[in-house]
Amino acid sequence: MKDKLKLISSRFSQQLSQVTSLADLDKLKLTYLGRKGEVNQLFKAMSRLDLADKRRIGPEVNRLKAKIEKALIAKARDLHSQTQTNLADAPLTAYLPASFGRLHPIEWLRQKTLNIFHRLGFIEFVGPHIENDWFNFAGLNIPPGHPARDLWDTLYLNLNDVKQEPLLLRTHTSNVQLRALKECGVPLRVMAFDRCFRREILDPRHSHTFSQFEVLVVDKGINMNHLKWLSDYFLKQILGDVTESRFRPKYYPFVEPGVGVDAKCVFCQGKGCQICSNSGWFEIAGAGMVHPQVLKNAGVDPDVYSGFAWGFGPDRMLMLKTGINDIRDLYQGDLWFLRG
Ligand code: DAH
Repeated sequence: MKDKLKLISSRFSQQLSQVTSLADLDKLKLTYLGRKGEVNQLFKAMSRLDLADKRRIGPEVNRLKAKIEKALIAKARDLHSQTQTNLADAPLTAYLPASFGRLHPIEWLRQKTLNIFHRLGFIEFVGPHIENDWFNFAGLNIPPGHPARDLWDTLYLNLNDVKQEPLLLRTHTSNVQLRALKECGVPLRVMAFDRCFRREILDPRHSHTFSQFEVLVVDKGINMNHLKWLSDYFLKQILGDVTESRFRPKYYPFVEPGVGVDAKCVFCQGKGCQICSNSGWFEIAGAGMVHPQVLKNAGVDPDVYSGFAWGFGPDRMLMLKTGINDIRDLYQGDLWFLRG
């Protein structure tokens, strides 16, 4: 199979060097990256290999695919630069062929994640970005003055109207918990993958806008085993079978008990490496059993129903999975980054 990869790679380079028009370039793209193209054939052939071979060959096929994509884009730019006289002034979209577009990394992960949970019977619930204090804090067991509010650097909206209740940009997707429970009732399996906002000092790991994925399950007889199973299942779907989840005790006012969910590092498989700061694990979510007071706040009887909630950081996962090293790149809409 390795020889085949080499052969495809050199045949592609040779054919690429002979391309002189965008129409031919599109044809070449189809030959290699189309649905029935060379690269997809390789992926198909790979599915017949045993696990050890798959692990060995998989990254090579991915690398070849990335190399082909990059070379096609560079060639498209070259061909355009020959026809555009003043390239520096032309907007990028004017000379990149539309066929080179692709999903934004966050949208890609969003669709993948929602698909996984749709299959498990979850419905998506869309909550507002501008929220009131109750749904974001007080109803979740974080009353005004509670020290736990310090965990969230909140952006309040100054509407110049003292009588109006304070509004804020939601600091987490947990605001959908009470909204969904009140609107849909129990039993409930609900999820939200959306943006949140905090007052942050910006750096490569902090952005004022970021994404969260929230899951809430409330039914009779729900317990921590369900939470653990779901955490493992989700991580394996996203990061592959080599990972698993680990729980550490952690405090969140709206769950009891609360846990930090760690994923076993996929790069060193738990042995410790640079990427996981030598711990073998990295934290990816907060979770726990829904606090009885939160159920009461939603009008649900905690003696009859129980549930778990789970909040996961997709940006961090994307950074780990793809090597993106500045979270701000995910939110600035820079076409050079998105296309790269
Ligand atoms: N909302 C928490 C945060 O932003 C994350 C979280 C923790 C969500 C525990 C949950 C949970 O649903 O149960 O840090």
